[in-house]
Amino acid sequence: MPSRQGVPHLALVSILAVISTVFSIPVFEGISAWSSSIGSLVPGVTVIEAIGSGGTDPLTYVPLYMSTEGPRGSPGNVSVTRDPSPPLFYIANNELYHFHNESTILPIQVHNSTQSAKLPLQLTIGDGEATGKLSRRTIVPGGNWRWQGTMLRYDQGTTSTPLFFSCQDANGLMGLFLHPKPSPTPEGCTAFTLHSFSRVKYSGEL
Ligand SMILES: *[C@@H]1O[C@H](CO)[C@@H](O)[C@H](O)[C@H]1NC(C)=O
Ligand SMILES: *[C@@H]1O[C@H](CO)[C@@H](O)[C@H](O)[C@H]1NC(C)=O
Ligand SMILES: *[C@@H]1O[C@H](CO)[C@@H](O)[C@H](O)[C@H]1NC(C)=O
Repeated sequence: MPSRQGVPHLALVSILAVISTVFSIPVFEGISAWSSSIGSLVPGVTVIEAIGSGGTDPLTYVPLYMSTEGPRGSPGNVSVTRDPSPPLFYIANNELYHFHNESTILPIQVHNSTQSAKLPLQLTIGDGEATGKLSRRTIVPGGNWRWQGTMLRYDQGTTSTPLFFSCQDANGLMGLFLHPKPSPTPEGCTAFTLHSFSRVKYSGEL
């Protein structure tokens, strides 16, 4: 019998690392092995799951994630998709960031794209310069992102919301929106709360 210690164990670890790099499978082993190399940069990375009114009934639940239709690691509009390898995010100093790799970390921005008090605000990855009518000009400053247990909340002044709306924009493209004040779901949109169930906290000695 060959030894079951040492080399075979290392081989398994590197296979897991390769699998998690290629597919970004949110398995605990993958993320924790990976975060050891990025831990000095980020305080805890996570995929963000979008849960709608159907809840998470195991018979019908299809996981949906906060993601983007555009190329991974590029600025773009945020959307909720059935992404088999969802992107990673983290919160630092009340800002929400998309973590792509060590050299590409993009802030999530909230835009007043419609310039209307009635319509919701739109989320982008990056500053929105590359996404048509959204730009640095339309960014709404002063928002705070935080976790309330597993649930993501956005605070603006004295208002706070855990509700996000997946809606089609004028061009038929999907976007993710929010109302700083809790409000009814806009027509044609689907309401979600956003959750992190496996945040990896960096302890400083991974
Ligand atoms: C990080 O991702 C960007 C965008 O995909 C890519 O251009 C860059 O080479 C990557 N950097 C590293 C260190 O992998
Ligand atoms: C968006 O812009 C409009 C027009 O400037 C303004 O009335 C509205 O209050 C803004 N909404 C938010 C949430 O800042
Ligand atoms: C992003 O959203 C904006 C505002 O709704 C829209 O004008 C633009 O076409 C969208 N861009 C992409 C690439 O989906």
